[in-house]
Amino acid sequence: MEKILITGGAGFIGSHVVRLFVTKYPNYHIFNLDKLTYAGNLANLKDIQDKSNYTFVKGDIVDAAFISDLFAKHDFVKVIHLAAESHVDRSISNPLEFVMTNVIGTVNLLNAAKTAWKNHYARHRFYHVSTDEVYGTLGETGMFTETTAYDPHSPYSASKASSDHFVRAYHDTFGLDVVISNCSNNYGSYHFPEKLIPLSIYNIKNNKSIPVYGKGENIRDWLFVEDHARAIDLILHQAKSGTTYNIGGHNEWTNIDLIRLLCNIMDKKLKRETGASAKLITFVKDRAGHDLRYAIDSSKLQKELGWTPSLQFEEGLERTVDWYLTNEEWLNNVTSGTYKTYYEEQYVKR
Ligand code: NAD
Ligand code: DAU
Repeated sequence: MEKILITGGAGFIGSHVVRLFVTKYPNYHIFNLDKLTYAGNLANLKDIQDKSNYTFVKGDIVDAAFISDLFAKHDFVKVIHLAAESHVDRSISNPLEFVMTNVIGTVNLLNAAKTAWKNHYARHRFYHVSTDEVYGTLGETGMFTETTAYDPHSPYSASKASSDHFVRAYHDTFGLDVVISNCSNNYGSYHFPEKLIPLSIYNIKNNKSIPVYGKGENIRDWLFVEDHARAIDLILHQAKSGTTYNIGGHNEWTNIDLIRLLCNIMDKKLKRETGASAKLITFVKDRAGHDLRYAIDSSKLQKELGWTPSLQFEEGLERTVDWYLTNEEWLNNVTSGTYKTYYEEQYVKR
C-alpha cells in the first residue's frame, strides 16, 4: 500500500481531501498529520475515522525533529501539504504565528522530504496547496494567471507566498518533484465560522448582526470545496513536476451581493419573512490592507487536465446552508469556548 501524507487534514479543505482520498483510493494508506489548532477538528472526519486505510497523527509541522522522524518511519510516496494558519484577520493580529506554521513548517516538511527521498526523487511528489492571495489584488478587470507576479499584502498572503517560493526553490535547487496550486475562496461544509460565509450563516441563524467590512464592495471568486478536492486529486496524479495550476470558480461576487443572496436563502430555510435576515447586515470598519478583487483564470487546468467546477453557486450555497442547519451540534461545538473570545476581540472591541 502506498502511504500518502496529508497535512492539515482536520481542517476545512483538508478534511474534504482526506475523505476523497480515503474513499476513492482503498490502495492508498492516508496519514493525516494535524496539530489540531482551534481550526482543526476530528469531528470533521467522523464518517471515515474507522476506515482501515486511514491513520491520524497528532503533531506540529514546526517541530523539525518530529517531522523528520515521521518521514524516517514511513516511506510516504506523496505529500499533500495543506496545514497552515489560514485566516487573514488573525494574521493581522499575530503575524509571527503565520511565519512559524506557513513558512518554517513548510520548510521543515521540504527538508524531511529531501532527506528521506534522496536518490529516488522521481518516485515521490510534494504537493503544496496555496492560495490566489499571493497575487495581491486586481482592479476592475483582468484575472490572475499562473504567471501573474506575486504581490501579497497581508501577513497571511506574504507567508503563503514565501512558502510557495521555498517549494519552487527545492525543485530548482535539489530536484524535488513538486506541484503547487493556487486556489480562490472555498465554501462548503466544515468551514470554520471565522470566515465570511459560515460566520454569516451562524449569525443569521442566531439573529446576530452580520458584519460586512467597509462598503461590502470587495470581490471574491467562490469555489465549492469538493471541486477543489477533485482538482487536487487530478493535479497530484497528472501534473508534470514543477508545474503550477490556478484553481477557481469563475464565480465573482461582491461581498454585499453574496450576503444578500445568503439572507434570501436563510429567510426561506428558516421560514422568516422575506427581508428579515437582510436587516441584520451591519457595515463595520474595513479590514486593514483589504484586497479589492480576486478572480482566477483556471483555463490551464481546464485545458490540460479537463477539470471544471461542478456546481452553480446558488445551488452550492443552498447545500451549504442546509448542511449548517442540519449539523447544529457541530456548529454549537465550534462556536463555544475560545471562539467567543475571538469574536469579542475581532468584532466587539474593534
Ligand atoms: P483551516 O484553517 O480550516 O485548516 C488548517 C488545518 O491545519 C487545521 O486542521 C489546523 O489544525 C492545521 N494546522 C495548523 N497549524 C498546524 C501546524 N503547525 N502543524 C500541523 N497542523 C497544523 O484551513 P483551510 O481553509 O482548510 O486551508 C487549507 C489550506 O488551503 C491552507 O494551506 C490554505 O492556505 C489553503 N487555501 C485555503 C483556501 C480557503 O478558501 N479556505 C483557498 C485557497 C487555499
Ligand atoms: O482567496 C483564497 C483565500 O480565501 C484563502 O487563502 C484564505 O485562507 C481564506 O480565508 C479566504 O480569504 P478571505 O480573506 O478572502 O476570506 P474571508 O472569508 O475571511 O473573507 C471574505 C471576504 O469577506 C473578504 O473580502 C473580507 C470580507 N469579510 C470577512 C469577514 C470574516 C467581511 O466583510 N466580514 C467578515 O466578518
